[in-house]
Amino acid sequence: MTTMGMRARALCCWVLLILSTAPDWPAVAASSSWTVDGTVLELDDSNFDSAISALDLVLVDFYAPWCGHCKRLSPQLDAAAPLLAGLKHPVAIAKLNADKFTSVARKYEIDAYPTLKLFMHGVPIEYNGPRKAESLVRYLKKFAAPDVSILESDSAISEFVEAAGTYFPTYIGFGLDESLISKLAIKYKKKAWFSVAKDFSEDVMVLYDFDKVPALASLHPMYDERNIFYGPFEEDFLEDFIKQSLFPLALTINYETLKSLSDDERKIVLAIVEDEDEEKSKKLIKILKSAASANRDFVFGYVGIKQWEDFADTFGATKKTKLPKMVVWDRMEEYFTVNGSESIDEEDQASQVSQFLQGYKEGRIIKKRIGGPSFGSVMYSFLGMRTVYIMVFLVIITMLIRSISKEDDEPPVVRAADQIDHAASSSSEAESREHRSGEKED
Ligand SMILES: *[C@@H]1O[C@H](CO)[C@@H](O)[C@H](O)[C@H]1NC(C)=O
Repeated sequence: MTTMGMRARALCCWVLLILSTAPDWPAVAASSSWTVDGTVLELDDSNFDSAISALDLVLVDFYAPWCGHCKRLSPQLDAAAPLLAGLKHPVAIAKLNADKFTSVARKYEIDAYPTLKLFMHGVPIEYNGPRKAESLVRYLKKFAAPDVSILESDSAISEFVEAAGTYFPTYIGFGLDESLISKLAIKYKKKAWFSVAKDFSEDVMVLYDFDKVPALASLHPMYDERNIFYGPFEEDFLEDFIKQSLFPLALTINYETLKSLSDDERKIVLAIVEDEDEEKSKKLIKILKSAASANRDFVFGYVGIKQWEDFADTFGATKKTKLPKMVVWDRMEEYFTVNGSESIDEEDQASQVSQFLQGYKEGRIIKKRIGGPSFGSVMYSFLGMRTVYIMVFLVIITMLIRSISKEDDEPPVVRAADQIDHAASSSSEAESREHRSGEKED
């Protein structure tokens, strides 16, 4: 099973780590004159710190020479490096043999190869973006952009939106002072583009569908969605709007979107349908969207059995189940059905969805554990077992799955550390279940 596989893999990697632990190299006076010249910088224990402190933005590939995925990534990075070097705020690409230079690798807790981290002014963040040269460049441009772009004309607005592309949502503050959003723009810099438009015509108001200023528009080009926020422009309200607009109202659940949800803490209202592309599913999705705009404390998602059978199976939905099936998933190993609203009939789906939500909020719920024969493989496929944290509280030992694998298409080859502890006793698990059921949202 997956657990065993992980353990075996981790063990093997421990052995590799121990065998390969090189003595710490004596620190030599490292050159501090780093330039971004379009080649991939090869770093080691002695010059790593100087490179990441001298360069504002560095994408570091922690690799191992024997790892096949690393070998495939390498030419993509070679191709991306000159393009990123040419930006107004250049992004450097560097690599470090984490198998050999273990003191840096340990410091940054590299536990799989390849691991990509983006160092912004010396501070590392996980790089979870694409790994093909062209899309990697487009993705990294986001990080090299100003926190808030100031747009002075209609054409500046359209150019900005065009250049922003479709990976990230875009926020445009119309008639909004940049000081109002700059703090949040920095906080959410990794997830969205921010701008303020100082000067614009009525055509823009029509195009973005707002009728007074100040207004903050959110655009989600990938999902063809937009929202307008008219205030109050106070931090809490603004942040709620920004956070909630990072995702479309109803999100198709797949490997990519699950990954992008990894920092969002809301529970997922999940509708499992036969086939996402069917007309009747589209009708339901529309209903989910309107429910979502009134229930922003949940993420609304849908998945087709045809699109991702294993995932649906995790929630006990197969082709034989009465569909669409509705559940609330806590993003960990529990989900809830609502007594009497397990599935949605064809007639008047809107009121059934609202009954489902009401039932959930009133606590008419049946708690279940995700499982099924394919559970292991589903978890493996979307987590890639990259980041599994164990949180230990006083009486709670429970596995929290916080973050989705950074791997694009494939599970990671190697784990270099065994952080998984499945020693949770059944009694403490029972306690943790009780504890969590007490936390139900209203
Ligand atoms: C579901 O609701 C019915 C009546 O409303 C009740 O009799 C039944 O016990 C409930 N089932 C569960 C599992 O809570």
